[in-house]
Amino acid sequence: MNGFATPGTGQSVVVVGGGVVGLTCADELVRAGHDVTVCDPSPGGGATYAAAGMLAPGGEAWFGEEALLRLGQESLARWPSFAASLSARSSVDVELRAGGAMLVAGDRDDLEEVRRTCRLLDGAGVRVDELGRRELRISEPRLSTRMVGGALLPDDMHVNPRVVVEALLAVLGDRVVHRRAVPRPDGVALEDGTRLRADVVVLASGATGLPRVRPVRGEIVRVRTTDAPACVLRARLHGERVYVVPRRDGELVIGATEEEHVTKETAPMPTVGGVARLLETARALLPSLETAHILEITARDRPGSPDNGPLIGDVPSDGPARHLLAGGHYRSGVLLAPVTAAAICAYVAGREAPSTVDAFLPDRFDLLYRDEDLCT
Ligand code: GLY
Repeated sequence: MNGFATPGTGQSVVVVGGGVVGLTCADELVRAGHDVTVCDPSPGGGATYAAAGMLAPGGEAWFGEEALLRLGQESLARWPSFAASLSARSSVDVELRAGGAMLVAGDRDDLEEVRRTCRLLDGAGVRVDELGRRELRISEPRLSTRMVGGALLPDDMHVNPRVVVEALLAVLGDRVVHRRAVPRPDGVALEDGTRLRADVVVLASGATGLPRVRPVRGEIVRVRTTDAPACVLRARLHGERVYVVPRRDGELVIGATEEEHVTKETAPMPTVGGVARLLETARALLPSLETAHILEITARDRPGSPDNGPLIGDVPSDGPARHLLAGGHYRSGVLLAPVTAAAICAYVAGREAPSTVDAFLPDRFDLLYRDEDLCT
């Protein structure tokens, strides 16, 4: 293990998985004085690579998922200080942007859903302002005149996940080992057979090899335009969903499809059907996309749990190393990274985690697994 911990205060921790969640946990653990190693053959190359970076507890809220909304709100509140600290320590601007998100409806049925979402958010104490057709057009003149109404979520933010990974890799330095690792009762085994013993193993390997986590494929398209919308747009057009997230320099992230599929399939590949639907819906929302340049088309698997909430906390282990799960973040890995890291750090230190995490302990499911079944 590396010798970075403050002597006498730290535990040795291996984080398996270097996506935004694993890396943020590692950063928080290092700052708490632990001796941390992250193992991932391609850090930031999984779901994080496709993520649009919406920090959108309101925009992603769904009926029956109020505990997830509260967890998201808590994590959103942690983002500004996390982003400021990370940017200062790494000298990388992680592009955190406030400015809210707009919900947009393409027809009366879509508008009915926007209104139901507004009632849900209002009841949960999330700021939301309904917008009529005219107000919508005034707020975002680039929208198609066919849009019938919507709402503004002024507190939603967004960040650039790829740059967040770059910043986290800069501050973690050689604590990140570019190797696949398999959990073992006393630590992990690397793919070349090397064993790393650890007091704690944090399992954060996304859609790959975590108990009760299923892959949910998503496709995104990145384009560049000279006429970018000012804030995040989340639209439902005749039942089809699309979001558009503005980045620097006129880049837009257009997402995302959702497809359940079996684990052992081939690596995620974008499909003609998925990408065509996405672009058609985005163009119907923002007609000026007609002349936008396509920069990239990407597919990745989101890690979904049986109830689509994350799994954060202890899982059974056969040996001396404690195993903590930080997985199943599904559509909200970027948003939930800071609160997940705070919880993992609290568990390692034997402190109480933020109470919003209580609803997401892994033991709400049967987690029958053997170490060797994981992360392969
Ligand atoms: N959070 C957006 C998505 O998963 O597509």
